[in-house]
This record gives sequence, structure tokens and C-alpha cells, in this order.
Amino acid sequence: MIKTKMKDHNCGELNLNNIGEEVTLSGWVATIRDLGGILFIELRDRSGFFQLVANPQINPEVHKAFEKIRSEYVITVKGKVTRRPEETYNEKYPTGQVEMYPDSVKILSEAKTLPFVLDDENVSEDVRLKYRYLDIRREQMKSKLVLRHNIVQAVRNYLNNLDFLEVETPILIKTTPEGARDYLVPSRVQEGKFYALPQSPQIFKQLLMVGGLERYYQIAKCFRDEDLRADRQPEFTQIDLEMSFVEQQDVIKVVEGLIVDAFKAAGVDVKPPFIQMPWQEAMDRFGSDKPDTRFGLELFDIGDIILESNFDIVKTTLLNGGIVRGIRIPGGAKYSRKDIDDITKLAVSFGAKALANIIYLEDGSAKSPVLKFVTEEQAKQIQERAGAEAGDIIFFVADKPKLVYDIMGRLRLHFGKSLNLIDESKHNLLWVVDFPMFEWSDEEGRYMAMHHPFTSPCLEDIEKLQSGDLGNVKSIAYDIVYNGTELGGGSVRIHSSEIQSAIFKALGLSEEEAKEKFGFMVNALQYGTPPHAGLAIGLDRLVALLARTDSIRDVIAFPKNSGAKDLMSDAPGEASLQQLRELHLKSTVQHK
Ligand code: AMO
Ligand code: AMP
Repeated sequence: MIKTKMKDHNCGELNLNNIGEEVTLSGWVATIRDLGGILFIELRDRSGFFQLVANPQINPEVHKAFEKIRSEYVITVKGKVTRRPEETYNEKYPTGQVEMYPDSVKILSEAKTLPFVLDDENVSEDVRLKYRYLDIRREQMKSKLVLRHNIVQAVRNYLNNLDFLEVETPILIKTTPEGARDYLVPSRVQEGKFYALPQSPQIFKQLLMVGGLERYYQIAKCFRDEDLRADRQPEFTQIDLEMSFVEQQDVIKVVEGLIVDAFKAAGVDVKPPFIQMPWQEAMDRFGSDKPDTRFGLELFDIGDIILESNFDIVKTTLLNGGIVRGIRIPGGAKYSRKDIDDITKLAVSFGAKALANIIYLEDGSAKSPVLKFVTEEQAKQIQERAGAEAGDIIFFVADKPKLVYDIMGRLRLHFGKSLNLIDESKHNLLWVVDFPMFEWSDEEGRYMAMHHPFTSPCLEDIEKLQSGDLGNVKSIAYDIVYNGTELGGGSVRIHSSEIQSAIFKALGLSEEEAKEKFGFMVNALQYGTPPHAGLAIGLDRLVALLARTDSIRDVIAFPKNSGAKDLMSDAPGEASLQQLRELHLKSTVQHK
């Protein structure tokens, strides 16, 4: 440690080996208690706690000084480390066998009464965020920031050893292709123009490859103006990397090593290689491109059986490009009518128009409103396909593929959680590979890039790209998934300007637009571009999962709340009319 006049030892590191040593400690008064006229202070610093004692009989001066001290005062003390009487050993702290009767004490700073009791678990998150600097004094917060540091250092060490160069990329940029809404910064000097904040360093890291750096990484701040959830922040951090002269499997191998070291920093051992699951398989089995494989309840397809039946309304859906997927809930035959209604309501809230069910009774018969549309034989076939036994219930939905996967994937997660099927001790890591290149957007009425438009299509699918069969073009993209959360994603990039232009065209970007938005990128590709590929991991998500907390806010020192507000500084704030004028902006909001 750095020894200073005010502090030459850490509170939490003193033990029986230090007995008799003269030390100077500084920190915060976690508690001060009067036990029979003797004053006890728990002194806290980043490393932990240490007990100070003032006995009016032994050190009256110090006792007098202690009497003025309140919780959270910052003090410095000097004295000898002594052994506690054995019957007062405190097993809770590593320093529980030692204490100090200080020879001197000095108050460095007084503290008002805190707006909340630090270790009260019932304080609302809003209050904690408003006084985040106090919240960080809590062991739960501090230890998460320490974990975050340890993970980042492990990642840096790992990548440095593999010859990656850490390069910073700009924050004031043009626009990024990640597909979220940009944060804009008005330019004062260039009237009427705006910078965007990077949604990721995507373009710049590719340009570093054109620049010949071969291996880049950055612990990069990214900004996305999107609707926030527990695992999304408007500004967040990526472990961002890019490599030249590599293929998908090379990146996967490097990232698997990175994951091993990052997890090790959190005390978790994982063993690559991780499973590589094609996207279609993930959707078919789990209804999700981030499958949680810690439990079963895999989906099944009964489309072929339905097509043979008289279930006309579902048949029509199937004949119009729809699919049908089911899920079997073991023991679900005992569900009451209300249970089934509630599950149906849940499915409807996920977007289902209807949720069909078949109950397989103990006597071997089936009960269901849909039995009027399927023969007994077909009901048996469905039972076999579902792997259902007497006592089970199955649910199924027919609709457009995207909707069916989404509804059934979410129902599966609901049952996994509510039936307590998730083994929390598991660390299931897997790759999802072979993503479609494009995804149809009903909202936009066009195909959108599933990853981003610099992702390379599978070379076998170039013809489909040219013939406009966009729905069947696969990309060389991969996501890493941990216990059902997307930790990171990446791809092999396009390194030919012709293919890049073809992709922009497929995305409905006119040549003009493409040139205006990404022209410098397409230009760069024409000056000798190495084949390259990369990936970015969401650092906040990684740390949150390893810290076993649901919210990434818990692992960010100063996060925004769900309204994208910083409750501590009250950002975003208003701008003065003078500022707006300088930025050539007019506001429609009334200003003070
Ligand atoms: P992508 O958009 O998939 O890829 O982002 C990579 C990872 O970043 C995390 N992430 C977020 N974390 C917190 N809050 C958010 N709002 C947020 N958005 C994303 C996720 C995600 O997996 N440039 C590409 C990477 C590449 O192709 O190399 C990219 O940004 O964990
Ligand atoms: P109806 O004729 O509308 O009463 O529907 C008969 C049965 O078909 C009901 O049990 C519905 O739940 C089921 N059903 C209708 N449409 C779908 C669908 N898209 N997916 C699954 N089941 C459906």
C-alpha cells in the first residue's frame, strides 16, 4: 500500500501478526458505542473494519475526543495494535482478534446525519442513487466495483498477452450502424450540424484494421438512446475487440480464453470449448436466440400433424407461412381452469391471439377444447411428439414465426422460473451461430440488418443476396450467451466495398444515403482491407451476472435510473437561452 503520514496500514488487513506494531489508521466511523463508559469505534476504510477502544481510565484524553465523534466522521488515529481479550473475539471480521487503544485521535472531517442508514436493506434504490457516494460506502456496492476492476484487469492482461493494442476511439462522431437511436450533440462551430455519440466503436475498430493494427481492443463507452430495462443503460461499457486475418473460429477461440480469465477473476471456473448452436436450432428448441439451457421444457413442432387435421384456423396460419410450437408442462394436468386462464392471459400479454392446450389425464384420455378438430389418433401423435405422459398438459401457439418463438420462449422462461426448474449453480455458456443476415421489420416495411450492416453474409448466400431472397441469407455472426443472457456479439466483417454496397442496397439505403452516412467507410474498404472479424462483450452485464445481481445499475458507479436520469446530479438539465443561442438551437419548451 501507499504509506502516508495519515495512514500507513489498512484497517481490514491487521491481525495477530501486527501485535505490538505502532500504526496510523484513517477512515470513517462506521459505529460508535458506549458500553459501560468505554467507547468503541468500528473504523472503516476500503479494506474493512478495525476496532478502536477508549477507556477513560487508560487514555482519558482520547476518551474525551471520542465523545465528540459521531457516525461517518472521518478520523485518524495512532497507536499500538493489541490483542483483544479472547472472549471478545469477533469471528465476523478478519480483524476480529485485534484492536487499538489509540494514543492520539484527530477528527479530519465531520459528517451530518446520513439521509439513510447504510446497511438498511429496505432503502429505496432512488434514495441510494441520489446519494450514490454514500451508497458506495456499503460493502455490497464496494465489493461489486472491486469485482468489476478485477474482471477488467484480467481482460486487459489476457488481451495484452495476445498482442492486442488498446486504442481509444472518438466520442463525438457521425453516426453508428447499431440500429438504436443516437444521442446527438449540437455543434456550436458548425451551425445546424450535430455529432452523434457512438453506439459502439464499430466503424473505428474496422478502420484500425484497414490501418494495419491487426489486433485492437478497448474498454469502450457506448451510448444508445433506447428504452431502458434492468440490463440496459443509455451509456454502458463494452469490452470491444477486433482482429485481422482471422475467421469466425479464431475469434471464438480468443473470446473463450477471455471468458475463462474474466470468470476466474470472479472465482468461477468454466471450460471451453462452449457449444455452438445454430440460430435456427436455438429458436426451434428454446424460442430464443439467447437460450437458457439450465433447464429443459424444450419446444416441439406439431405443424405436420395439424396440417393433416381439421384444425382449419391453425392450418390456415400454417399455410400462410406461420408455424406452430408447443411446450409440455409435466404434472400440469392438475392446473385449474383459473390457472389455465392466467397462463393464457400471460401468453396474450406476450402477443398471442390464442393459446391452445391439451390435458393428458391419468386414465389415458385427453381433454381439450381443440379435440373437436383433431382425431384421437392425431391427439396421440401430438402426445408422442410432446413426450407427454398422463398427468401433463401441453400448450401451443400458431402464428408468424417471430411471434411464435417469442411467445413460446417467454412462456418457457416463465415456467422455468415459476416451477423452480433453474439450477442457479450452473454456468452455461454457449455460442449462437449462423444468424440470418436480415430480419423483416413490419414497422419499417423492409428488411433490417440483424446484427449491423458491416456483418459479412455467408459467402454461399451471395447469390440469394443478388436475387433478392433476403430472408434466406445467413451471416457470419455469433453471439455468446451466458445462462440465458446475451453477453456479447460479433461477426466476420465485409472487406469488399462491392459487397458492402450490395448490403446497403438490400437494406433499402440509397447510394446517396449510404454515401452520406458511411461513405468514408466504403471508401476505406477500397484501399487494401484485411479480412477481419471481432466482437464486443457487454461489460456491465458480465459483471452483474458474475456478481449475481439482476440489475446492471448495481455494478455501475453512477448509473441512470429507468427514466435515463442521473438522480444525483439531476442530469439531464436545462440549457440556458444563451447556450441554446450559441448552439443555434430553438427550444419549444418554456425556459426560466
Ligand atoms: P451489440 O450491439 O450486440 O454489438 O452489443 C454488444 C454487447 O453490448 C451489450 N449491450 C448493452 N449493455 C448495456 N446496456 C445497453 N443498452 C446495451 N446494448 C448492448 C450487450 C451486447 O451483447 N459493434 C457490435 C459488436 C461487434 O460486432 O463487434 C455491437 O455493439 O451485452
Ligand atoms: P375458436 O374456434 O376460436 O374457439 O378456437 C378453437 C381453439 O383453437 C381454441 O382452443 C383456441 O385456443 C385455439 N386456437 C385458435 N387460434 C390459435 C392459434 N393461433 N394458436 C393456437 N391455438 C389457437
